[in-house]
Amino acid sequence: MVKVAVLGYGTVGSGIVEVLKTNQELIEKRVGEKIDVKYVLDLREFPGDPYEDLIVHDVDVIMNDPEVSIVCEAMGGIGAAYQFTKMALEKGKNVCTPNKAMVAEYGPKLMKLARDNGCNYLFEASCGGGIPIIRPLQTALLQEKIVAIKGILNGTTNYILTRMEKEGADFDAVLKDAQALGYAEANPEADVEGHDACRKIAILSSLAYGNTVNYKDVYTEGITKITVEDFAYAKKLGATIKLLGMSQEVDGNYYAMVSPFMLKNDSPLYSVNDVMNAILVTGNTLGDTMYYGAGAGKLPTASAVVADVIECAMKQGQLIPCTWNEGDLSLGQMENDKRHFFVRAKSELSQIESVFGKVEAVDAGIDGEMGFVTEVMSEKEFASKAEALGSVVSRIRFEN
Ligand code: NDP
Ligand code: HSE
Repeated sequence: MVKVAVLGYGTVGSGIVEVLKTNQELIEKRVGEKIDVKYVLDLREFPGDPYEDLIVHDVDVIMNDPEVSIVCEAMGGIGAAYQFTKMALEKGKNVCTPNKAMVAEYGPKLMKLARDNGCNYLFEASCGGGIPIIRPLQTALLQEKIVAIKGILNGTTNYILTRMEKEGADFDAVLKDAQALGYAEANPEADVEGHDACRKIAILSSLAYGNTVNYKDVYTEGITKITVEDFAYAKKLGATIKLLGMSQEVDGNYYAMVSPFMLKNDSPLYSVNDVMNAILVTGNTLGDTMYYGAGAGKLPTASAVVADVIECAMKQGQLIPCTWNEGDLSLGQMENDKRHFFVRAKSELSQIESVFGKVEAVDAGIDGEMGFVTEVMSEKEFASKAEALGSVVSRIRFEN
């Protein structure tokens, strides 16, 4: 019998208990051993909850119980959760977590601590919610040199953007719905300002390219400036707007960014709506593969954590290898990145073309401004032309 403790009985923590209980027999059959939750740590009581008798408030009960071999950290944050994770690993207990803030900040350090203590630190649910993405990178894609990753990596923002597009919904009201559905971070600024997607692309890039991409080095823009008017222009262009996280290797140099992008309807990411996420991984011999599923939410995220629990249970006493090494990977500047830009400006077409040259004009019926798509140009060139025009209201990058 494998005994598990869950730290944090919130959205994901309660989901982990539910998945393990709902599928207990099936899991036992597949693993060859029963996996049972022995403790759930939380600050609160949960009167009437079917698992209220599992609740403990003292983490030492878990840490000092040699029967517990797997700890699921679902508290979030990098405060007490970090201390508890270290305590568990130092005791030789495997830790499985959806906590991407922790993985982006301390991933290599915690993986080393795990190795030094003969156990594992696994984090399948930290990227893409319920989508299996880290395990494919660690198994089915080991033969590939990964040259690019591009994806919709945040469920909350994709849910907000989808409802803005389909219903013309108000940003703040939809964000409240995303919070009520359990999709958003404790501080939803992490979602809407792009920090969560930034941490995820840093984690995926570290796994794909082999050394640590510091999330603080990733250029990041969120969705707070996107408006329903932008969607009116996008519609005219046969496009939509998505928050993308991307990284790539070009001639031995690495680049990463998070930003809203306009996507044409032939993009494989165009139809990824609501809380769904999708991640496109390009291998040098394989080409593109895409991974799709619920990017946030109780049971999908919990399912991914339980996948880690099962791997630990099936490989007891073994160190599970990981492609993410401790060295740093430096990122190149993005000023030479080239693409089309969609722009809204308060100028006449003739003025716009005198600065930008040939553009594709877009009329979404919005008074006092016009929209246009530039030719392909570098970030640097775009910035200097936008400054020269002097009337740019906003710009959105176009996906290549
Ligand atoms: P919740 O806030 O719903 O759950 C966290 C739980 O941990 C709460 O019950 C909280 O109690 C409890 N907790 C906090 N601090 C302590 C402590 N010191 N001791 C004991 N219990 C504590 O968060 P989520 O479940 O949404 O998120 C958990 C983690 O999963 C985060 O890292 C998040 O980024 C990640 N994640 C979440 C996803 C989602 O869809 N929600 C998807 C993917 C990853 P209290 O409420 O009293 O503070
Ligand atoms: N807040 C995150 C999101 C949770 O919306 O994607 C899943 O990581």
